[in-house]
Amino acid sequence: MMADLNNRDSFGSKFGVLAAAAGSAVGLGNIWRFPYVVGENGGGAFLIIYLFFIIVIGIPVMLSEFTIGRKAQLNPVGAFKKIAPNTQWHLVGLMGVGAAFMILAFYGTIAGWTLEYVYCSITNAFADKTPDQLAGMFDNFKAGTFRPVLWQLIFMGLTAWIVIAGVQKGIEKSAKILMPLLFVIIIILAVRSVTLPGAKEGLAFLFKPDFSKINAGVILKALGQAAFSLSIGMGTLITYGSYIKKDNNLVNTAIQVSAADTLIAILAGVAIFPAVFAFNLQPDAGEGLVFIVLPNIFQQMPGGYIFSLLFFVLLTVAALTSSISVLEVVVAYFVEQLNMTRKKATIIASISISIIGIFCTLSWGVFKNVSIFNYNIFGILEYIAANILLPLGALLIVFFVGWIMKRKIVKDEISSYGLHKNRIFNIFMLIIKFIAPIAIALVFLNGIGILKL
Ligand code: PHE
Repeated sequence: MMADLNNRDSFGSKFGVLAAAAGSAVGLGNIWRFPYVVGENGGGAFLIIYLFFIIVIGIPVMLSEFTIGRKAQLNPVGAFKKIAPNTQWHLVGLMGVGAAFMILAFYGTIAGWTLEYVYCSITNAFADKTPDQLAGMFDNFKAGTFRPVLWQLIFMGLTAWIVIAGVQKGIEKSAKILMPLLFVIIIILAVRSVTLPGAKEGLAFLFKPDFSKINAGVILKALGQAAFSLSIGMGTLITYGSYIKKDNNLVNTAIQVSAADTLIAILAGVAIFPAVFAFNLQPDAGEGLVFIVLPNIFQQMPGGYIFSLLFFVLLTVAALTSSISVLEVVVAYFVEQLNMTRKKATIIASISISIIGIFCTLSWGVFKNVSIFNYNIFGILEYIAANILLPLGALLIVFFVGWIMKRKIVKDEISSYGLHKNRIFNIFMLIIKFIAPIAIALVFLNGIGILKL
């Protein structure tokens, strides 16, 4: 068991690090969540605030997480314990483990929907359906019991199966092939979408800022979406950072991963919104947006059968490379802090997460009437994780690297002991000491209504 501590798995190559970290970042957050959150929160203006948060908060937090993880070579709880012994900082790691439970619970619901849509693609179930029928098909499916739960459990099983095998060649390798493929497909879909009649309105919705829609709650949601999409704020990247070799240039890695993540989110927006307007659908249709809009596009394009199949398979893969990174947080914690075997840790973690997950899935059907602060079970977990736990985690993480870790240790770790010239190091320190914590605190307190700006 202790061998796990010493012979830690690590990523093989530079590109492997990139593929794995981008694999974690690029997922349902980009293609499923980004379009619908943009759609519900006013389009272009939201996008600008989102981009601002990616640059000013996202990249510095990502770099901070990599730094903590690689320095400590441990899971998030162990890492805080090692770097700041005899303090309460390990609670930040524990909060991340809690966030992982919540995120994977609702992530599994959506990934399950994605699997159903792989199945529908195979059986050509979208053919000859009107936009209304496609919407109805989705609504019926998600309100069901057996099918959505079954797909969710299959997805959780796949996630667990990969995690049990270790930080392994399979996923690093497959991410290297599948992430570029995903990129190509999403470009093709974006092109098809912008060439639909009436596409202009959709592009205007995405790119023309209308600041009248912006309020404190919306700004917090932009921050939450940025954190969710980059996989920051809960120790995923501390965990992955602990698998990164000591000579890797963490600054470049953080920038490249964030850039890839943002590009794919925007491309997803470009694929979705023109089609939304072209087919007279509503941009604020919520969680079902992509499941209703994309089948409409597939029907309208030559080779739609193949594209729909490819798209949903790839979306499943993108979801999988993210979900394993979430589960890995819990498993690394169980293995290293609670001395479990990897297998036992994975089984316990995935079964308990699946149980919470089933409630999320059923909250679109039999538990539809259970409402917590006007959200269903799914919605409240999503809101708390993305808009509360991740921003709070991000705040504490930058504060930790900025104020608690010794500047020299941070600098040595980031520069690989002088191997890399980090011209931006001073700017980075300025951001993580002052700008990021203050910005997150203001957005957060304002967004949940404690502070009125
Ligand atoms: N970033 C992932 C996505 O966009 C989700 C995720 C969140 C993964 C938090 C890990 C940690 O789908």
